[in-house]
Amino acid sequence: MNLLKPQVNPPLWLLAELTYRCPLQCPYCSNPLDFAKQEQELTTAQWIKVFEQAREMGAVQLGFSGGEPLVRKDLPELIRAARDLGFYTNLITSGIGLTEKKIDAFADAGLDHIQISFQASDETLNAALAGSAKAFQQKLAMAKAVKAHGYPMVLNFVLHRHNIDQIDRIIELSIELEADDVELATCQFYGWAQLNREGLLPTREQIARAEQVVHHYREKMADKGNLANLLFVTPDYYEERPKGCMGGWGAIFLSVTPEGMALPCHSARQLPVEFPSVLEHSLQHIWYESFGFNKYRGFDWMPEPCRSCSEKEKDFGGCRCQAFMLTGNADNADPVCGKSPHHGKILAAREQANCTNMQISELQFRNRANSQLIYRGQPS
Ligand code: FES
Repeated sequence: MNLLKPQVNPPLWLLAELTYRCPLQCPYCSNPLDFAKQEQELTTAQWIKVFEQAREMGAVQLGFSGGEPLVRKDLPELIRAARDLGFYTNLITSGIGLTEKKIDAFADAGLDHIQISFQASDETLNAALAGSAKAFQQKLAMAKAVKAHGYPMVLNFVLHRHNIDQIDRIIELSIELEADDVELATCQFYGWAQLNREGLLPTREQIARAEQVVHHYREKMADKGNLANLLFVTPDYYEERPKGCMGGWGAIFLSVTPEGMALPCHSARQLPVEFPSVLEHSLQHIWYESFGFNKYRGFDWMPEPCRSCSEKEKDFGGCRCQAFMLTGNADNADPVCGKSPHHGKILAAREQANCTNMQISELQFRNRANSQLIYRGQPS
């Protein structure tokens, strides 16, 4: 037995990114910028094989995401297969393309949980951000239908500088729709969000105000016996210590892209690291043996200042993807950390948030045309 090898536990969470197709074009999407390059999708049988292997290894939770997972016609079949294997299943959707009939089919297939994302609390802003005028009414109708079917429902609002000041109205809308949980998640800067960071990062003042509003509503709702949970996630750009991203590299989370690339986080395909395909290797091999999944396990890979840091077992040096995006080297400490020699990049972004006047219309929207321009190397 090699005592130097970090202990590896089985994955608990499988994220099935079924497709990169999506009818909306949110400028903060975490999908890769070059998603349009990738048109292949695993077949129904290939996905089910992935589910079987993950379950056999011990995974218990399966998220269906994308893109927009509803564009996959075989979604009920995939849900049923996952449920029959014993997964707790969660559909992460924009609600676009959802119908009462589909909700029935998903319930029949055994789907446990639905999360619907909103762009804003009003139609105009929602349309400007999603790139679809009809999206808001459709989301409202489907949120009501999901509740009427007796589902526990999570509403997800991605917050940024253009909607965070309306957080009170966002919470009011969530109460009206009887959400069981509300994720008020400030943009995390990956994929398209990183590309548009200047136009999305809120100021510290905006975040502080939003936090106060959330606190106020938590008290108000508790007084009225409303048990809905308001989860407020702040951006790590205003922290001095990095997050322990994904609970550690290759520790609990396994993501599979539409064409079958296995990743330790949704963002890792941008790294200059080779990741294996589920079409070529078993999940068992991928998780325990592959180069990509072992690359940042344990602590031996760490350079300073992480290597001698007393907090390395808590934060694992932060996020590898963020280190790569901001410093060009994924081995570096996450620049969110005040000890990182690159922390100035975070300070500069905060400063920029105070000065910028970038409008929604100036953001780069996540759509095929923009993606093609980006991967062909032309500025859009
Ligand atoms: Fe990839 Fe943090 S998102 S390691």
